[in-house]
Amino acid sequence: MLSVLFLGDVVGRPGRKALAEQARNLRRDLELDVLMANVENASGGIGLNAKAARELLALPLDVLTGGNHTWKHKDVFPVFQEAPRLLRPANYPAGAPGTGLRVFETAGGVPYAVLNLLGRTYMDAVDCPFQTARTLLDSLPADVAVRIVDFHAEATSEKKGMAYFLDGRVSAVLGTHTHVQTNDARILPGGTAALTDVGMCGPVHSVIGMDAQGIVNRFLTRLPVRFEVAKGPARLEGALCAIDESTGRALSIRPWQGGLS
Ligand SMILES: [Fe+2]
Ligand SMILES: [Fe+2]
Repeated sequence: MLSVLFLGDVVGRPGRKALAEQARNLRRDLELDVLMANVENASGGIGLNAKAARELLALPLDVLTGGNHTWKHKDVFPVFQEAPRLLRPANYPAGAPGTGLRVFETAGGVPYAVLNLLGRTYMDAVDCPFQTARTLLDSLPADVAVRIVDFHAEATSEKKGMAYFLDGRVSAVLGTHTHVQTNDARILPGGTAALTDVGMCGPVHSVIGMDAQGIVNRFLTRLPVRFEVAKGPARLEGALCAIDESTGRALSIRPWQGGLS
């Protein structure tokens, strides 16, 4: 059995700090084989710059995934070539730096694939995530039974749709991007674990990680407002899954919250 914790969007310095403080203990306390996080908001709450990417790559994280904000800082582009553990959504048009699918191996020698996809509903007009998932998963060797998908998307219907589309073909479809953890963790009939959104790693008292007052002012006035990462305690949120390494089927999934710092 593989124990996998996938943490939601890491927001700014508070998110990076909480993760840095707790990654090692989480691995030990939860007896994790795989610890992954979505890092598209790690720099100032939007995007990932080279400095933050290297800081996160120095932590005991197995895989770092991306989203619609991944390309905000151009200095991170070369990091994608240097760091195989850093993924970005697979369905960006050809020519984007890096890759969205890679096979890794646990310390115990179990291969596992991670696929990062971006939704299209209320988001950028990227290639179809459903068609991309089908093509890329078909390209994987059959002996890579454990397959984890980060579906970075806005609409709950698109995320649910992806989970059912991939049911039986992957171990888990885990949603990111909304920064709000949903309460619909379940194992689908074909054996795929699904959670519409795993939540975020960032300030507890915030609007999706940003200072609440700035967001409220924006809603009140509709004027441009500079959003800032909120201060105060930060919490880690994610999905904790157990996966049968021989079949790739999920054994359990639950939304996970912890590690207040
Ligand atoms: Fe995000
Ligand atoms: Fe996002």
